[in-house]
Amino acid sequence: MREKIGKYQKSLRLSTKLMEIYPSIEADSHEEFLLQLLEQLDNDRKNKKRIRNLNNAGFSVIKTLNNYDFSQINLPDKMQLHELETLRFITNKENLILYGAVGTGKTHLAVALGVKAINEGKRAVFYRVHDLVNELESESSKKAKALKKIAKSDLLILDEWGYLPLHQEGARLLFDIVSSCYETKSIIITTNIEFGRWKGFLFDEKLTAAIVDRLVHHSHMIMFTGQSYRMINSLIK
Ligand SMILES: Nc1ncnc2c1ncn2[C@@H]1O[C@H](COP(=O)(O)OP(=O)(O)O)[C@@H](O)[C@H]1O
Ligand SMILES: [Mg+2]
Repeated sequence: MREKIGKYQKSLRLSTKLMEIYPSIEADSHEEFLLQLLEQLDNDRKNKKRIRNLNNAGFSVIKTLNNYDFSQINLPDKMQLHELETLRFITNKENLILYGAVGTGKTHLAVALGVKAINEGKRAVFYRVHDLVNELESESSKKAKALKKIAKSDLLILDEWGYLPLHQEGARLLFDIVSSCYETKSIIITTNIEFGRWKGFLFDEKLTAAIVDRLVHHSHMIMFTGQSYRMINSLIK
């Protein structure tokens, strides 16, 4: 019997967990048994998907909101902590702009929000702006892969926005990405460059205006006012 069940598990492409799940179910009726079985298979599938998404998101380290210190961070009135944590900005396809000096926790917060989104069944992708532009400029299969990954995501995190100057083609590729996300998904950018100085790394004035326009419309600005965590930690040592 077990062997036959195993055979159907494979041919129906059900989780191998089935073989663990079904003997442990205690139920008083057929319906109850079936319901519990389906629920547990569904959970198993969602969990695998979550882990796959987490591995494919491009985070170099995993960070969470646990013990994250918000005391030096200015959240906008409409986006207080509990609101931020609901991730409603993703459902609403709004953007977050995390602005502040180096070492103040921008990347940490962006990653933590991305991880939370994935844990809740959404898709998030993380790129340092320069790595993304490099991928978009590389061979067409790599470019297509990146575009597909972004297209399928609910949240695109662009880290280190403006840290290095782009050339014209790079800026144009970035513009295409931002445009394609406009009102279809959320973007989080982390930057230490104020809007007025974006032209300095995007070069083209019109392009800069167009990017600012698309990013800033439906966006929330989060200001990081603290001192560098790296600096504080190294001073303590
Ligand atoms: N508010 C914070 N709460 C907890 N850890 C923080 C906070 N801000 C920064 N850190 C830690 O300090 C280091 C630098 O933060 P990071 O997010 O890389 O800064 P940024 O991206 O602004 O340069 C990371 O290891 C991060 O986990
Ligand atoms: Mg950073």
